[in-house]
Amino acid sequence: MTSAPRILLIVGGGIAAYKSCELVRLIRKNGASVTCVLTEGGTHFVTPMTLAALSENPVHTTLWDLKNEVEMGHIQLSRQADLVVVCPATADLMARMAAGIADDLATTLLLATDKPVLAAPAMNVRMWQHAATQRNVATLRESGVTVLDPDEGAMACGEFGPGRLPEPEAIWRAIADALGQSAPAAATGPLSGRHVLVTAGPTHEPIDPVRYIANRSSGKQGFAIAAAAAAAGARVTLVSGPVHLPTPPGVTRVDVETAREMAAAVDAALPADVAVMVAAVADWRTADSAGQKLKKDGSGKVPPLALTENPDILATLCRSDRRPPLVVGFAAETEKVIAHAQAKLARKGADWIVANDVSGDVMGGTLNAVHIVSTGRVESLPEMPKEQVAAALVQRIADALA
Ligand code: C5P
Repeated sequence: MTSAPRILLIVGGGIAAYKSCELVRLIRKNGASVTCVLTEGGTHFVTPMTLAALSENPVHTTLWDLKNEVEMGHIQLSRQADLVVVCPATADLMARMAAGIADDLATTLLLATDKPVLAAPAMNVRMWQHAATQRNVATLRESGVTVLDPDEGAMACGEFGPGRLPEPEAIWRAIADALGQSAPAAATGPLSGRHVLVTAGPTHEPIDPVRYIANRSSGKQGFAIAAAAAAAGARVTLVSGPVHLPTPPGVTRVDVETAREMAAAVDAALPADVAVMVAAVADWRTADSAGQKLKKDGSGKVPPLALTENPDILATLCRSDRRPPLVVGFAAETEKVIAHAQAKLARKGADWIVANDVSGDVMGGTLNAVHIVSTGRVESLPEMPKEQVAAALVQRIADALA
């Protein structure tokens, strides 16, 4: 997808509607734009004002608020988007969708759209299991609608079972998948059909609820690699520590804070054809993070800060039986850059180590000069913008996989 993807989000009338607010936030954080439509029932759970503020777009509630058919008719509204998402999809809304009823703005848009539709159901367990709902879900799936399976668990109504709305992160991942499938770039490019896993940014290791150990990684180099891989047609999963960067178009982003969360997210993203581990993972975390903010007690005594080692995500991946065929590590060094990279290559079990000297202002800066170190070979690239380093690396990855 070349420009930011556009989502039309239809919010149905169920208690899970409040989670659509979080979904709007996630969609935007991941670089897509979103326009919301609220059903009449939906307005009883979230207000148009909330969704307008979160989406920074007008919210539509009735057929009659589309000022005129030329400027913003229901046909245009249903077709301007790249994907229509129904969240929560209530039993009633899915029944009307399955029957082709168009008696309000939401169902009219759903009938008029020529774009893929994804529905995230949420309802009481009995309603979900009812033969009528199951028939409607089957009809919708047959007609090409992606209907997610609801989560299982305790429900707002006090019952237990399938029917809970999937977590917003899971819905976002399904949205990203749906967008990825319709992305024209995915069909072409030297990495088309490949899954590229990238880690980027620092990790934050909590000391107490307000303090953490961090490093100066900006995430720029990792994000540039994710962008270059997506532009080369790959499906890209970007596992990112806390950074202030927009998600590159066509990239599925998973945000994490700690090294242990990053390790779990990497594991969950497998299998992959190639892993590029750019993240500056904290080597150590605090042995015990305090449950409450640590306080000065006036005695002048300093609290001890005991550390413990974090998992080495790269080394663990290299030894795992789900090791991607190509694993690329990074090495930020302040001296003996190539010698340290060669030692790291063997120690970690990676295929390549991309080494750079971070004694200058590489961390957070826009330029980088790297050496691509593999067994018995060193290729040194001149200093160039991080986007060009990314393009050069992605080119070599494509050649190696071909
Ligand atoms: O050992 P060092 O931190 O220098 O190794 C850098 C490489 O190892 C990078 O690719 C980094 O993403 C990865 N790494 C990791 N998990 C750690 C430490 C580093 O994946 N705990």
